[in-house]
Amino acid sequence: MGKKNIIITGGAGFIGSHVVRRFVKNHPDLHIINVDALTYAGNLENLKDVEQANNYEFLRIDITDKAAIESLFSSRTIHGVIHLAAESHVDRSITNPIDFVMTNVVGTVVLLNAYKAYGDTENGRFYHVSTDEVYGTLGEDGKFTEETPYDPNSPYSASKASSDHFVRAYHETYKLPVVISNCSNNYGSHQFPEKLIPLMIHNITHNKPLPVYGKGENVRDWLWVEDHARAIETIYFEGRNGETYNIGGNNEWKNIDLVHKLCEIMDRKLDRNAGDSAKLITYVTDRKGHDFRYAIDASKLENELKWSPSVAFDQGFEKTIDWYLENTEWLERVTSGAYSDYYEAMYTSR
Ligand code: NAD
Ligand code: DAU
Repeated sequence: MGKKNIIITGGAGFIGSHVVRRFVKNHPDLHIINVDALTYAGNLENLKDVEQANNYEFLRIDITDKAAIESLFSSRTIHGVIHLAAESHVDRSITNPIDFVMTNVVGTVVLLNAYKAYGDTENGRFYHVSTDEVYGTLGEDGKFTEETPYDPNSPYSASKASSDHFVRAYHETYKLPVVISNCSNNYGSHQFPEKLIPLMIHNITHNKPLPVYGKGENVRDWLWVEDHARAIETIYFEGRNGETYNIGGNNEWKNIDLVHKLCEIMDRKLDRNAGDSAKLITYVTDRKGHDFRYAIDASKLENELKWSPSVAFDQGFEKTIDWYLENTEWLERVTSGAYSDYYEAMYTSR
């Protein structure tokens, strides 16, 4: 019997590349098909170390392309789908919501239909990788649990909430085997520098202002990306169909405190005087509808599937910073061209 085919969508992106690498290396019995449109956020350089593996294949397909997706699913037996492809950046969703509806909602439904029509639904499953932002915002106290009602505030989180609802609806209506996870903010290597941490690292190295939104008091719960990838692997194989699992780092930081910590480490690593990088901090106009605080209660995943974060933040943060400093060429390449236009549009008059 041949290897079972597993499709991972969005495998050329930040989290997807870590998930693909983990599956290709840990599961030689599976054939991993990375389906990615290679938008501005997708980069095959992220997967150099697995591209020659004999259980790996890359297909450049836009998940909204119904004909191409149907043709793929009908041409061979697809055992399971791990769906990460998405428009993922909140600020972009505020300026251009329609792209988020297309990829995150329509693309997800195209994949659900194809898996329902042709996939190995007796034995495999459809896994939707989602976000804690679907739950809206927290005040000073409390955490999101799997029972927290959906209350999305940004076009991005509204599109992810909608796709979660479609996945659940396909389970209820068609008995499709599905599982969903909702994760907090990830940090680590290969993250596109529109997101807070790599953007700040890039700006510090170039002595550019560090744009902190509002008063910098918003809180995020940061998780090492490899721990997220390991959670996805665990849930894919051991989670229960129809269930949702929250994933978090139990590691809350106010943005301004995180940026100060980053500045201190960067001063040390770049042999600058203490305090030099922090002088670049610039408070800018707040994000519209900016969620105040996210925090995850991951006890269901911890108790049921015995997952917990493996990397202490201090250690993971240093490793992350080292990766960007050792891979300045990667950072320069992805920040050239279209990124410069985006940066101008987003920050010049902020
Ligand atoms: P990313 O933006 O780095 O990567 C997205 C990938 O999807 C890219 O490779 C891109 O080319 C691909 N893609 C986009 N539109 C596509 C389309 N129409 N067809 C095919 N491919 C397409 O995103 P990320 O940060 O790695 O996030 C991955 C997933 O995890 C997303 O679903 C996101 O909602 C979710 N998530 C992210 C975080 C986080 O902190 N980054 C946290 C929780 C959940
Ligand atoms: O919580 C999970 C989500 O985390 C994922 O679903 C999203 O895909 C991912 O992008 C991330 O969303 P955030 O909006 O929290 O991440 P971002 O890195 O854009 O911003 C983190 C915080 O930093 C947020 O409070 C906004 C703030 N920020 C961000 C940028 C880019 C700034 O202050 N300045 C900036 O320049």
